[in-house]
Amino acid sequence: MSIKAGILAAGHYLPEKVVTNFDLEKIVDTSDEWIRTRSGIEERRIAADDEFSSDMGVKAARDAFRKSGIKPEEIDLIIVSTISPDFMWPATACQVGAKLGLAGVPAYDISAACSGFIYGLANAAAFIESGMYKKILLVCPEKFSSFLDWTDRNTCVLMADGAGAVIVGAVEEGGILSTYMGSDGSKVEWLYQPGGGCVYPFNEETIKGRKQYMHMNGKEIFKSAVEMMPLAIEKAMEKAGLTAENIDFVIFHQANIRIIDSIAKRFGWPEEKNIVNIQKYGNTSAATIPIALSEAMENGKIKKGHTVGFSAFGGGLTWAGAVVKL
Ligand code: ACO
Repeated sequence: MSIKAGILAAGHYLPEKVVTNFDLEKIVDTSDEWIRTRSGIEERRIAADDEFSSDMGVKAARDAFRKSGIKPEEIDLIIVSTISPDFMWPATACQVGAKLGLAGVPAYDISAACSGFIYGLANAAAFIESGMYKKILLVCPEKFSSFLDWTDRNTCVLMADGAGAVIVGAVEEGGILSTYMGSDGSKVEWLYQPGGGCVYPFNEETIKGRKQYMHMNGKEIFKSAVEMMPLAIEKAMEKAGLTAENIDFVIFHQANIRIIDSIAKRFGWPEEKNIVNIQKYGNTSAATIPIALSEAMENGKIKKGHTVGFSAFGGGLTWAGAVVKL
């Protein structure tokens, strides 16, 4: 009999410290009005100096364990999707495993930027459906604040910290109905952290060029996101044999409210079907979708039996879509 993978539980964690647009007005030449009207962001969370991606990932994972009753010892693979890892290498997944007391469990990272949650979900589903693993912890923690140039108003007002996690395992009904992924590496300079790799290893010159921070061409990314996020959700619905009317809730990567609203409108999804939290948390890259999913499940909006569509776009470039019946 074939095995079907599904999301068994979701959890999230957000750092305590709230940074408002008004706080940012004191750091860079910006305004609450500009940030709110161009991006939809009102405030975001920033992790403490001694709180790292793995720590936030562990807290999100513990939230998923607590809500589901699944025990950490049941996990037989850990996947972490992040582009703000604890270290350049080894994988943050190994840190998450160690902090959860899961030494011995295989663990690896995925680097797919804002599409990272859906890339991770596709990985996890394939492992479950092949029979190789039974319960997989997929964690998306981002401490973006460590990789932001706090003098660059183009980027520092958008990104933030937080973590989401899901546990993926076999289900009797529903499950991960489809996933779809794409990439285009030829546009890498539109959105990346150039420094620290072998092209620009850290030295005096690369640090002076501020290459250790996120660089973004906002206009090009905006245009691509508006093209690729609808394509990704369309492809995912097609693969699942569904249309927009069959989707109970949609969760887009939370990068810009104008992108999110325009896509929702294009597919005819009303406000109440479109889960949005960008105003509170900003763009937490791979973490936005699992945080929104976990919150919506926690407050009873998304329930068992609901069909949820996901779509994301980000650095790489990468894009991805998925349809999941909970
Ligand atoms: N405050 C005030 N002014 C600003 C700010 C700011 N924080 N940031 C930029 N500006 C200025 C620019 O300097 C520019 O000024 P100029 O015209 O004098 O050169 C002007 O505002 C640009 O304005 P717009 O073109 O109207 O800005 P736009 O509507 O494109 O919005 C934004 C900018 C919000 C960045 C938008 O392009 C966007 O959301 N892009 C996509 C971002 C995104 O999704 N990034 C993904 C990152 S996630 C990942 O994968 C890591």
